[in-house]
Amino acid sequence: MAERGARLLFFFASLIVLRFGGADKGSGIRGFTPFRFSVEPVDTLAVRGLPAVLNCSAASNALVRVEWKKDGTFLNLVADDRKRQLADGSLLISTVVHSKHNKPDEGVYQCVATIDNLGTISSRTARLTVAGTKTKPLRFINCVLSLLYEI
Ligand SMILES: *[C@@H]1O[C@H](CO)[C@@H](O)[C@H](O)[C@H]1NC(C)=O
Repeated sequence: MAERGARLLFFFASLIVLRFGGADKGSGIRGFTPFRFSVEPVDTLAVRGLPAVLNCSAASNALVRVEWKKDGTFLNLVADDRKRQLADGSLLISTVVHSKHNKPDEGVYQCVATIDNLGTISSRTARLTVAGTKTKPLRFINCVLSLLYEI
């Protein structure tokens, strides 16, 4: 009887060790927070008057705050009604503005992700270039067409 009792005790003790051992390993994995960018912005050619998106997404099981820098300065998206951040962290410019003397969107963008009490990571930088628009050739063609109609 005593031997059987000892075996039972050993059996339960083993179960407890296995359980706690397993749980420890599990929580060890859960406690580790991988923090990296799953998507980083790439050089983008935008068109004046159209929307443009700079993609950025940080992978982590913790709460990540994403912010954007343009030409080294943090963007204040609250004060900018043409730019907003999508749920995954990407930056959406609703209408790209670009004229001879006003080029507010062209520049070098960078995505910055922060986990409170852990740290901050910065993405690669991406240049947004605004393509020359087709308005001038179109205007030229329209002009030629209107002349042809008058003949
Ligand atoms: C940005 O992400 C969207 C959605 O995943 C995708 O459709 C688009 O092609 C991406 N754009 C660039 C420039 O990578």
